[in-house]
Amino acid sequence: MRKIYIFDTTLRDGEQSPGVNLNTKEKLEIAYQLEKLGVDRIEAGFPAASPGDLAAVNAVARAVKNATVIGLSRSREQDIDAAREALKDAQDPCLHLFLATSPIHRKHKLRMEKEQVLETAERAIRYAKQYFSKIEFSPEDAGRTELDFLCQVTDMAIRAGATVVNIPDTVGYMTPAEFGNIFKTLKEQVPGIEKIQLSAHCHDDLGLATANALAAILNGADQIEGTINGIGERAGNTAIEEVAMALATRGDLFGATTTLNLKEIAKTSRLVSKLTGMVVPGNKAIVGANAFAHESGIHQDGMLKEKTTYEIISPETIGLRDSKLVLGKHSGRAAFREKLIDLGYELDDEAVNAAFAKFKDLADKKKNVMDEDIRAMLEEKLTDTPEVYSLETIHVSYGNKSVPSATIRVRMAEGEVKEQSAEGNGSVDAIYNAIDALTAEAVELEDYSIKSVSHGKDALGEVHVVLKQDEVSAQGRGLSTDILEASARAYIDALNRLVEKRKSPGRRDKMSLI
Ligand code: KIV
Ligand code: ZN
Repeated sequence: MRKIYIFDTTLRDGEQSPGVNLNTKEKLEIAYQLEKLGVDRIEAGFPAASPGDLAAVNAVARAVKNATVIGLSRSREQDIDAAREALKDAQDPCLHLFLATSPIHRKHKLRMEKEQVLETAERAIRYAKQYFSKIEFSPEDAGRTELDFLCQVTDMAIRAGATVVNIPDTVGYMTPAEFGNIFKTLKEQVPGIEKIQLSAHCHDDLGLATANALAAILNGADQIEGTINGIGERAGNTAIEEVAMALATRGDLFGATTTLNLKEIAKTSRLVSKLTGMVVPGNKAIVGANAFAHESGIHQDGMLKEKTTYEIISPETIGLRDSKLVLGKHSGRAAFREKLIDLGYELDDEAVNAAFAKFKDLADKKKNVMDEDIRAMLEEKLTDTPEVYSLETIHVSYGNKSVPSATIRVRMAEGEVKEQSAEGNGSVDAIYNAIDALTAEAVELEDYSIKSVSHGKDALGEVHVVLKQDEVSAQGRGLSTDILEASARAYIDALNRLVEKRKSPGRRDKMSLI
């Protein structure tokens, strides 16, 4: 089996998802988990974007020992110097240089002729080569670049010293046959192509990112770039777990494999979802909540007779344990501890005690506490962001013929408890108006979503919100058996994250790639 290298860009392209902004601690937590997953390369960020980004890449570079750490850079000396600084402590550093090559980008964005593009990229690669032995070059918008020019660019990059040439379908415009043909042509026509690795970087605007990446593999790509859960700019990037599982399941077709530890997929997916606040859709391939659920009678009957009738991947392969032990209010600490181990949580005694207290609270409100409830409960807080505001009590009055109102008590950072009542168009609006009046934070609610964590009328409700304040966005998550309380908790969580961001303004909120 040919090895396909996995280049994870969750911390860079993934972080370009709307509303996502990871701090250094969160980036480190994800980087450690990516190491456990066994990715070969981790793109940690874009150091020239801001001093905060540089510091975050530097922290990841110092922490990661078992993967190449990569910093993104435009084809400019000052960007390369910022990446040098950020990657100086990495065990195995790599610079990722890019410059757009398509006619649209050359004309409207760069205002450069083909010759200038070639010269600019070559100068940057040669400058970087003095400091980096590993350099990846990406002709941005390669998918819409003339194929003969792309061959010329690749030839230049190899001669200038690039060790990987990455082919980005920046706008997700390609179809598998077209994208595969680019790799085939480069392999056939560019001299010295065997000296470097060819990489594929796809976006999902037409829902084809994974299909295009697999077409690239069939036509000789050595590396696939992507993100966990397929998060990223606009419709996102290739989902790494999809490529890994396609290769693992259809080795007969691809003759290629990754060296990922597949059992870490579910855990990595949950961590990325938790820290980015990007909820994984239920029907998402591999990691969606319904990916292994069989609803129809015919399917259930087939599954009972022989699992492979309707199951091509077993949930255990990606680290989902099929635990039969359902906990309830009579379950003791020992059963709870056993469940935690079963679900893959390694907690010290103090953390087990805190989790057990929360579990008891939940079991008082909910008859059967399912695995999903326990996971959600343990992962409720997006981070350990300091609680400037914390919810004390909430009272809501609603009638379909009266104006909804809410009274909220919030504990402020100094310990003082404040109370405020407000009305609104609906109960959630009333709650949010009361919190706004209490905290005097001028925020805009950019997104609100709610889902049920498990089944039944007493299921836990999980609310996600994205709040925006002065061009800075933050997401928040709230969990409760009552959806109004979950709504209040999510809003306050997001407010706390906004306050934290105000205190550390070193990081840009959105990256501008020009
Ligand atoms: O999509 C893209 O073109 C990119 C490049 C920076 C590689 O993310
Ligand atoms: Zn991209």
